[in-house]
Amino acid sequence: MDPAVSPGARRNRLFSRKPLAALLEEAKGEDRLRRILGPVHLTALGIGAVIGAGIFVATGAAARNVAGPALMLSYAVAAVTCVFAALCYAEFAAMVPVAGSAYTYAYATLGELFAWVIGWDLILEYGVSSAAVATGWSAYAQGLLAKAGLGLPAALAESPWRYDAASGALVGTGALVNLPAVLVVAAVTVVLVKGIQESSRLNTAMVAVKVAAVVFVIAVGLFFVSAANWRPFAPYGWTGLCFFGHTVAGQVDPGGKPVGMLAGAAIIFFAYIGFDAVSTHTEEARNPQRDIPVGIVASLAVCTVLYIALVAVLTGMVRFDQLDISAPVSLAFKARGLGWAEGLIAVAGVAGITSVLLVMMLSGPRVFLAMARDGLLPKQVFGVVHPRYRTPWKSTALTGACVAAMAGLLPIDVLLHLTNIGTLLAFVIVCAAVLIMRRTHPGAERPFRCPWVPVVPVLGILSCLLLMFSLPAANWWRLAGWLALGIAVYFLYGRHHSVLGRGSDECPS
Ligand code: ALA
Repeated sequence: MDPAVSPGARRNRLFSRKPLAALLEEAKGEDRLRRILGPVHLTALGIGAVIGAGIFVATGAAARNVAGPALMLSYAVAAVTCVFAALCYAEFAAMVPVAGSAYTYAYATLGELFAWVIGWDLILEYGVSSAAVATGWSAYAQGLLAKAGLGLPAALAESPWRYDAASGALVGTGALVNLPAVLVVAAVTVVLVKGIQESSRLNTAMVAVKVAAVVFVIAVGLFFVSAANWRPFAPYGWTGLCFFGHTVAGQVDPGGKPVGMLAGAAIIFFAYIGFDAVSTHTEEARNPQRDIPVGIVASLAVCTVLYIALVAVLTGMVRFDQLDISAPVSLAFKARGLGWAEGLIAVAGVAGITSVLLVMMLSGPRVFLAMARDGLLPKQVFGVVHPRYRTPWKSTALTGACVAAMAGLLPIDVLLHLTNIGTLLAFVIVCAAVLIMRRTHPGAERPFRCPWVPVVPVLGILSCLLLMFSLPAANWWRLAGWLALGIAVYFLYGRHHSVLGRGSDECPS
């Protein structure tokens, strides 16, 4: 700590904001990423990040144990929440077209401490959700391997712990590591270090495969829907709302977790995560002001329609309480005597989930890059762009190592819930930042304006909080623990290395 700096100036530093003009100037500097992505690429990136383990894996358990056929409405509720947040993201992404997403927006509006908190929260979102997706990938891939008679030894097939819903505790499985999850993370990391152009081409191909698979499931499955399977429609009720462990509305399961349509929305919210990843690629967009909002809104709209239709078909094909937990979509076809379609959907599921992993792991290091440029993370690791590939290769490799460790060792439920609550918090902050920015910078150029301000951002904040309170209470404590750790790291490192802070020491505002 510098003794020459007065307490007042130190306090100011915590809330010092990065000027909008400085952000725009940075976009012209050195060490920039290549501007090669157009609107179709960006929409494909969005869809690539969105359709994955959420619909292919989490739908089964959510319909079976939490919402029943009313899960189709849960998908609609989660989509509405995302639309509010997406409109706010789009305004910022067009206005501040540099890497960093919500972190950068918070730096410009709420000040350094908030920016750090949101950046730390995004580390959670991208890191933990990548691990959750890799674990879902492993379940589908192992299903395919088993079909081909190539089952893995039990010790290498899953995480050493499993979440026990009845007791609410982690119990041992006897396994050592989820090896397929570790291997897929390693492979994706190598692709990403080589460069976004290759990654983006591979991604576009995989997105095409999974969208085709989802359309196939809807079109063929429709002929096997029996309306009787939709009754009862909401066996667990319509709500499911808890306030730190105290039930406010609806029912709870034997483990004390909220169940019902709303609780279902809080869980399958995971299926929509990823559209915001588009906004982390503003620096690589050819025309960010136009293409980023298009990419965000178009990918969200396509996914919402496909999800609701797919869940309606799925719960119409198989009674909700008979849906499979690990591969519900492909096994629903098997259950209706369409064995030929099962393998086809499983292959598309693996490809689809791989493309999510690709985008998630692509986005995290770009947020770190923005934080390192501001001095809040070590520049030698997180701020280095590869001279030939033009990718943030060191942080990509480090992210890969951490995600592989989490994917290999932690169970999917823990990873999934933690991702949801962290992402919802990021959305709350982005919505609030739009409100603040409209007040502090009313005249700034806004190529895309979020409609009906303040109604949309306020509804965004309220609906995200509603979903956060529909998640089991343990997630609030895990989130609080993560944020407390982040604040400690900020005071031990970021605060002393902040580029903006050094400026304000010389000239406290
Ligand atoms: N939305 C992404 C998925 O469902 C994270 O896999």
